[in-house]
Amino acid sequence: MTWEELENAALECRRCALCETRTKLVFGVGVRDADVMLVGEGPGENEDLQGEPFVGRGGQLLDTMLTLIDLDRRRNVYIANIVKCRPPKNRDPLNTEQDACIGWLRAQIDLVKPKIIVCLGRVAAGVLIDPAFKITREHGQFFEKDGVLYTAIFHPAALLRDPRKRPETFEDLKALQAKIREICPGTYA
Ligand code: URA
Repeated sequence: MTWEELENAALECRRCALCETRTKLVFGVGVRDADVMLVGEGPGENEDLQGEPFVGRGGQLLDTMLTLIDLDRRRNVYIANIVKCRPPKNRDPLNTEQDACIGWLRAQIDLVKPKIIVCLGRVAAGVLIDPAFKITREHGQFFEKDGVLYTAIFHPAALLRDPRKRPETFEDLKALQAKIREICPGTYA
């Protein structure tokens, strides 16, 4: 399947009820053959209006965090979410919604073929790393699965709510940068 076929199919998706309330489906953004992929939870209000992941306040903070380690959605990462349509009132996506949607993300991962997947927050880590993942304890650690390295950092919205988490996240970002230098030389070329 090509990117165009995948995106066109996703844009028509009616696999769960979130299609009834979405403004725009938020497919993904960035470099489609990046070695580093970031996965968030699901669109919020601004993302739903604009059709792009992480464009609200949390998104601005994410961009700043990425800049710190020389990553940029226009240059060297791909960004997508576990669910492609906004859950009403920004509630967590239901398990049934995640299950209905995850095929789109799996297909994106197959096309990007990232070497490192960074989960943004508890929900993405629970789906992609381990259902029992504890973000407070396990953020910043690396887990290998089928030849891909996974890690998780606090969600930008959590850092906005609780700035005390920022120093730990800065350490995680520096460790991520070192790992990228080690195994994804093209990212900083
Ligand atoms: N939060 C997410 O998890 N994803 C977005 O795209 C925006 C906010």
